[in-house]
Amino acid sequence: MSISKICCIGAGYVGGPTMAIIAKQCPHIRVTVVDLNEARIAAWNDPDVEKIPVYEPGLSAVVAEARGRNLFFSTDVESAIEDAELIFISVNTPTKTYGAGKGQAADLKWIELCARQIARVAKSDKIIVEKSTLPVRTASALKDILQNTGNGVNFRILSNPEFLAEGTAVEDLFEPDRVLIGGDQSEEGREAIEALVEIYANWVPRERILTTNIWSSELSKLTANAYLAQRVSSINSLSELCEYTEADINEVARAIGTDSRIGPKFLKASVGFGGSCFQKDILNLVYIARSYGLTEVADYWEQVIIMNDHQKRRFANKIIQKLYNTVNGKKIAFLGWAFKKDTNDTRESAAIYVADHLLHEQANIAVYDPKVTEQQVLTDMDYLDTRSPEENRKLIKTYQDPYEACKDAHAIAILTEWDEFKSYDWKRIYDNMLKPANIFDGRNLLDKAALQQIGFKVWAIGS
Ligand code: UDX
Ligand code: ADP
Repeated sequence: MSISKICCIGAGYVGGPTMAIIAKQCPHIRVTVVDLNEARIAAWNDPDVEKIPVYEPGLSAVVAEARGRNLFFSTDVESAIEDAELIFISVNTPTKTYGAGKGQAADLKWIELCARQIARVAKSDKIIVEKSTLPVRTASALKDILQNTGNGVNFRILSNPEFLAEGTAVEDLFEPDRVLIGGDQSEEGREAIEALVEIYANWVPRERILTTNIWSSELSKLTANAYLAQRVSSINSLSELCEYTEADINEVARAIGTDSRIGPKFLKASVGFGGSCFQKDILNLVYIARSYGLTEVADYWEQVIIMNDHQKRRFANKIIQKLYNTVNGKKIAFLGWAFKKDTNDTRESAAIYVADHLLHEQANIAVYDPKVTEQQVLTDMDYLDTRSPEENRKLIKTYQDPYEACKDAHAIAILTEWDEFKSYDWKRIYDNMLKPANIFDGRNLLDKAALQQIGFKVWAIGS
């Protein structure tokens, strides 16, 4: 079976870039990305390709090449479903904010809506691919809905979790460590797996395309994220110990990272991990383990989240403590708001929680981020629902210019590791700040000694 028409439901950080790369690498396949959100689709179609809604290095060039050729963005979900032979489901699956499993389980409302819509509209056989991260065994719910509410057509379900990291999505998609495809081990299932393998094989060497049963594939995605997040929490836990022992976390990380069994990646101590995946997926893992009565397993993974929350709070407390235990009315500049560099995504960013903590102490926060809009910063704070939107607007200001953001501030907090921060004129920033001028480097990004030479008081995680 050879696929010539694909549809992807959900034009977000996963669906958008993934489909752009498939379209670029497979000019013979027509790829349509649909979303209910009209503004988002309009932005993907903006004639100025720099205005697409997801910022990723290299993405606009890929979209410019494929868009209008074999890559289309549309709000007409039904026609796209009807036309496609293979449908990726790439909608959001946030942590539930209500009812059973509140705060832990994944909210599958949007997945179910998608499944019902596909079942209602489809008039020919289709392969349905889970792209969003889903709890293990979601495929059985999907199958149930599709088969019991459909028009008698045949649906085959695959799991093909995305491992791209934001900020490096384009390179991750062009050269993935592996592509994982899970499916039924029946003859029909294998045929569907092979159809998807064939698409990726247009640019990914076959030995890097792993196939498994569907449950292993679903669970592998949660496991990969849990392992990565665990590495960050592990190094962050030791960063605190370093601060008491005069060990330096950067030196410790280098020392252990050169052990080939440990490896150098994901050993950067930070103000805490963010992003749409780590916290959500671990909470999900914890919830699933607990629902099978596996208390020790659940507690084990939950500790990764507890450590991360601690690190964010600890960073905010350090700022308060170093500013003589009061930040009331003081201007604190935030450099960075995104959850990591090279993305405009702010979901679960540590900056949000550090800001919230400081606002409880009535600080004034001045935010500069090269890619995050004022609207987004305020939406993030309003979403927390810890104070009124009016209060958020009174206490938080965003700036287009980092030098203006830092002017007359008592302290600067580095929340995101944007490269441009390293090349600022730090002497000029120092001259325009209130003294003593403090820097709290939540990313171990800046040259501490050079800043101290200028006159800054510098505090960095784990040293
Ligand atoms: C992650 C997974 O890496 C990816 O495979 C999966 O598909 C989705 O979730 P992402 O959330 O985009 O990707 O970014 P990632 O690079 O994993 O970083 C997550 C968070 O951990 C960021 O806030 C980052 O700043 C932080 N981090 C990462 C550290 O604090 N230290 C590190 O050493 C690495
Ligand atoms: P991710 O990081 O997983 O890509 P996003 O929130 O960036 O998550 O993107 C998910 C997208 O899915 C959103 O743009 C949302 O509007 C879209 N979406 C959710 N449910 C549906 C649906 N039933 N039909 C079409 N689009 C949907």
